[in-house]
Amino acid sequence: MPRETNILLAKEIAERQKAEEKLLDSQERLSQIIDGNSIPTFVLDKNHRITHWNKALARITGLSNQEAVGHDIQWKPFYTHKRPTMADLILERASEKEIKRFYKGKYHRSALLEDAYEAEDVFKWEGKDKWLFFTAAPLINRTGEIIGAIETLQDITARKEMEKEILAYQEILETNVRERTLQLKKTYEQLLHAEKLSAVGKLAASIAHEFGNPIIGIRNFLKGLKKTATMDQDDTEMLDLAIEECQRVKDLIGNLQDFNRPTSGMASPIDLHKAIDDMLLFCKKNFKERHIIVTKQYAPNMPKIHAVADQIKQVILNCLNNAQESIAARGGNIRLTTVIKEEQALLHIKDSGKGIKEDDLIYIFEPFFSTKPAVEGTGLGLSVSYGIMKKHHGNIAVTETSEHGTTFTLSLPLPLPLK
Ligand SMILES: Nc1ncnc2c1ncn2[C@@H]1O[C@H](COP(=O)(O)OP(=O)(O)O)[C@@H](O)[C@H]1O
Ligand SMILES: [Mg+2]
Repeated sequence: MPRETNILLAKEIAERQKAEEKLLDSQERLSQIIDGNSIPTFVLDKNHRITHWNKALARITGLSNQEAVGHDIQWKPFYTHKRPTMADLILERASEKEIKRFYKGKYHRSALLEDAYEAEDVFKWEGKDKWLFFTAAPLINRTGEIIGAIETLQDITARKEMEKEILAYQEILETNVRERTLQLKKTYEQLLHAEKLSAVGKLAASIAHEFGNPIIGIRNFLKGLKKTATMDQDDTEMLDLAIEECQRVKDLIGNLQDFNRPTSGMASPIDLHKAIDDMLLFCKKNFKERHIIVTKQYAPNMPKIHAVADQIKQVILNCLNNAQESIAARGGNIRLTTVIKEEQALLHIKDSGKGIKEDDLIYIFEPFFSTKPAVEGTGLGLSVSYGIMKKHHGNIAVTETSEHGTTFTLSLPLPLPLK
């Protein structure tokens, strides 16, 4: 019997040796597979100690295989203090809550591997942001026990940077589209506005034409009546009032006709600065009474503009009057600046008045729009000015307005083509 036992024992020993060799073999092979893999990978045993730390991982983390294996320092390249990696959490069969605590909003269950988790996170390495995508899965033996965990990492910084770039581009694109839409809307509104003004202008001019002659006839008749008829005091006063009113209507009609009258006067080369100075002279007395100080800054070498002098002067005067009227009794200032810009002569008329309300801005160039008491404002000044500037291929616009004042800018082409 002992002989048989010996044989059995020897067989057993031989088998064990074989098995051990096999095990060593397979461990060796596993090491080689992991080490030769280009995907940064590490493996933990069930005591959270590193059993494998491959070359690819050593390269990206700077922690060598010798330093890592046998220790539980898998956190070190990634965090400033000791805390579980995804592989550690898996080893402990950590609850979702626990995983969430460490990887809030950054992890999800793997779609490919049961019990595996994936996450992406950003780490600061050598002062630079590095994005890593990592997958951790349990290693399970035949009886279903977790005996270790494997974690692989992928550097996805390039992808993340690309995403960021794309997002930035998208944002730029969106802003561009938004700006363009706004511009288009504004242009459309301006077009509508210009069309409306021109239609109203034509209507006003034709009405003025119909009324113009009869009103002069009526006035002349009333004047004649006053000379020949004998009337009591009251009637004479009434007649005077009627004549005055006729005059007022006639003036109004004159203004209305200006609004759309084709350039009737002769266009000639005029000195813009002289035209301004002429009108300032006109306003001098009023400005003084209202304590308004005028300052000027004229562009040197301003070429002559080709325009109908009276009409341009009328526009300037309208603007000066409006500026003066916007300034309260205690006084203020008006600044006149001329600039040559892109083959245009610009005149900025800036006042320190009360400004124009945003709601009013779209109406101010319309005939009869006025915020002034009935006797003071006819609401024709700006609409007439607008008509004149358009006929001169120029423009008039509010370029700035706030409670501190308003700037109107007149622009005229240099040199000016006239139709
Ligand atoms: N410089 C200005 N500051 C403030 N409001 C102004 C100015 N210029 C024009 N406005 C506004 O535009 C309106 C229209 O001006 P306008 O056509 O000249 O008519 P009016 O002067 O007879 O009211 C004014 O009633 C006023 O509300
Ligand atoms: Mg006015």
